[in-house]
Amino acid sequence: MIREIVQVGDPVLRETCKPVTRFDKELWTLLDDMRETLKAAEGAGLAAPQVGVPVRAVQVDVEEGFFELINPVLVSQKGEQTGPEGCLSVRGKAGTVTRPDKVKVVFSDRNGNRCSLVARGFFARAVCHELDHLDGILYTDKASNVHDVED
Ligand code: CO
Repeated sequence: MIREIVQVGDPVLRETCKPVTRFDKELWTLLDDMRETLKAAEGAGLAAPQVGVPVRAVQVDVEEGFFELINPVLVSQKGEQTGPEGCLSVRGKAGTVTRPDKVKVVFSDRNGNRCSLVARGFFARAVCHELDHLDGILYTDKASNVHDVED
């Protein structure tokens, strides 16, 4: 089911999200709905608080594939990249953000198995953006020049 994407100004986007403790049907429904919502919005990533659920779960959909990260932890980062960014919760805006160029993240999959991944370039940017959402941080907090764009 497609869920409504919460927009900036809603306090849920500023919450420190709670860890996922149960890898059950309720989580899977949330994740399935998030994936459908992300696809419909044609976004590169979505975090659970963006559908109003402040738990530590994100998805990214990039060239490298579709990834679902539960309780993700950034364990290492290298280099730097500066580029454009937007957010499904900040419609009609874009800005320039500096992010690490390469990151390693440890996370659980939807069944609770601990996994890790290494992301580079835009993939790394998307992962960092989504992880920030779990701590109530929006890209606009870090962007140098937030400006209007056509949706
Ligand atoms: Co976002």
